[in-house]
Amino acid sequence: MDDFLQATNIVHRFKKMPGGLLECLHAIQDFYGYVPKETINIMANGFNISRAEVHGVISYYHDFKTLPLGRNVVRVCQAEACQSMGSRELTSRIVDLLELDLGETNEEYTLDAAYCFGNCALSPNVEINGKLHPRVSPDKFEKLIKAGAL
Ligand code: FES
Repeated sequence: MDDFLQATNIVHRFKKMPGGLLECLHAIQDFYGYVPKETINIMANGFNISRAEVHGVISYYHDFKTLPLGRNVVRVCQAEACQSMGSRELTSRIVDLLELDLGETNEEYTLDAAYCFGNCALSPNVEINGKLHPRVSPDKFEKLIKAGAL
């Protein structure tokens, strides 16, 4: 099956719903792992809006990615409770270790900010490949990497 036929099916599913573009973008990202540029036209046509409007929604919401993710996805909480427990220092160490800034991706890693995992009592929190790790110090993060958590 042509990969982008699936995008057409997804657009068809959401195009009549109020707020359907947002739901559609989530579904497309769930299916492809990101929002491929080839799907922008399909969404613009399906929702009868311009490509610029689709781009506008994608760029407004931090969660939408327009490039494939790295093999490992690391998300570091930047919200208040985690900041008060050292997430800035932790982020700085992670940036050095992975050689990426927040929001960047290479083949191996995607490093992203998160804004509260709902686990504030155990701050600072880092999510690695979908698994939440509480009370992560810079040294603990380094150990997690060496232990193969990535
Ligand atoms: S502020 Fe980080 S989990 Fe809530």
